[in-house]
Amino acid sequence: MAATLHFAFVLALFTGQAIGVNNGLARTPQMGWNNWNALGCDVSESLLLDTSKKLVDSGLRDVGYNYVVLDDCWSDGRDENGFLKDDLKKFPSGMSAVADEIHKEGLLFGMYSSAGEMTCARYAGSLDWEANDAKSFANWGVDYLKYDNCYHMGRFGTPKLSFDRYKVMWDAINGTGRPMLYSLCNWGEDYSHTWGMSIANSWRMSGDIYDSFTRPDDLCSCTDASSPFCVAPGSHCSVLNIINKVAPYVDRGQPGGWNDLDMLEVGNGGMTDEEYKAHFSFWAALKSPLLMGNDLRTLSASSLTILNNPAVIAISQDPDGRSVARIRREMNAAKDKYGVGEIQVWSGSLYGGDQVVILLNAAGEDARISASLEEIFLHDGPEGSAPQNNEEWEVYDLWANRMEESLAQKILDAKAEDLPKLFKDANWYNSTELSYKEGLKKKDARLMGKKVGTIKPGGSLTAKVKRHSMEMYRLKSVGLGGKRKVHAKEEL
Ligand SMILES: *[C@@H]1O[C@H](CO)[C@@H](O)[C@H](O)[C@H]1NC(C)=O
Ligand SMILES: *[C@@H]1O[C@H](CO)[C@@H](O)[C@H](O)[C@H]1NC(C)=O
Repeated sequence: MAATLHFAFVLALFTGQAIGVNNGLARTPQMGWNNWNALGCDVSESLLLDTSKKLVDSGLRDVGYNYVVLDDCWSDGRDENGFLKDDLKKFPSGMSAVADEIHKEGLLFGMYSSAGEMTCARYAGSLDWEANDAKSFANWGVDYLKYDNCYHMGRFGTPKLSFDRYKVMWDAINGTGRPMLYSLCNWGEDYSHTWGMSIANSWRMSGDIYDSFTRPDDLCSCTDASSPFCVAPGSHCSVLNIINKVAPYVDRGQPGGWNDLDMLEVGNGGMTDEEYKAHFSFWAALKSPLLMGNDLRTLSASSLTILNNPAVIAISQDPDGRSVARIRREMNAAKDKYGVGEIQVWSGSLYGGDQVVILLNAAGEDARISASLEEIFLHDGPEGSAPQNNEEWEVYDLWANRMEESLAQKILDAKAEDLPKLFKDANWYNSTELSYKEGLKKKDARLMGKKVGTIKPGGSLTAKVKRHSMEMYRLKSVGLGGKRKVHAKEEL
């Protein structure tokens, strides 16, 4: 498998051909909002428009969240020509007008359907209606399609069956000529991490997330994504369950196509602040799409100061597009109330030769976690052979500069005319003006975190990590000058 992928990559380099869907979208993981986790079927025109306004007023659009994605329950059957009708009770102005309003706010519009006879909430599905539905989406001005997996009429069970079923919609979208980010929501069935990148910009690799950090649940029956018995990925998958499932497949994501770990639960109330920080940090570092899943109309200051952390978003939007990989997993730490006692160390390379490291404590008690440079740079050369092992590293804490909650509250309470000054005083990172790529090139301080120490050559990174929490660092080599050649894949 690895050899095949490697060969494809080399071939692509020689022919100058990009791999994947090549529609120019999702060169970094997509960011935005989706209503499902907080609101389910409770969708309406006013919800989408109020949320769009909130994305702008809260500054979230300008830290990068630019897709407004409507989930299930928006349609009202098909017309006599076989085209989907939008529900005019829920969307009185019609979908096209809603899209226009969203675009006017400088945002993009996402839509939902299912590769089945019905959607998951039993509305008309797009299976065997793909050409019609793609046309409707294009006519309405849709920029993104989340494409679900319910009621597929048994057309699954082998990778080829699922691939073919999802490819029909990709071809239909492509045929409209309107670029739409194509987001597969097939829960990781039929090994979607092995074929998703050929037809989509992202592919789910797990059953649905739920708002819990470690609690196992029978509805999320699979703990190992590579198990052939994982036929019902289900729902109620905890953050830890999803992290553990993606671990063997982190390298499948690349610019243009990403492992999708499902929408965020930050702000929905089931986790502690530390757990939400960890959830958000992992989704960023694993290069999952970052789709907020909370009700932004009631956005709290504490949630805002998690979701707006530019030093963490810069990890997600790093131009090299490489995920962190797990380099250590310990299962025997003190158990939490669900019997989980995991400690993990994750590491990954960043643009310009930096490195990101996450020390995760998913156990029941606080712990000191340590990782040597030899471990941190394991993937650049085993047993300490990586040149990075002999360098000195500065350590930057990516959460130390988290915005004060009182300032976030002021922004949320402010009148429109007072916002520009508040954003300026807050030194808000504005990716609309300065992209993450440009910001990283300039080493913008807001993207770097706060320096908290150094690691000597051959040394270790050690931190006290609270229970159900993590610490996340950017490592920068001191005086790298010439010793190690850094390949910045700038033109990706
Ligand atoms: C259609 O597919 C081709 C080939 O991958 C790609 O170059 C083009 O950008 C796609 N167009 C749209 C609208 O997705
Ligand atoms: C970001 O920059 C754009 C373009 O200059 C501006 O319209 C917008 O108000 C800025 N946003 C924030 C949050 O400062």
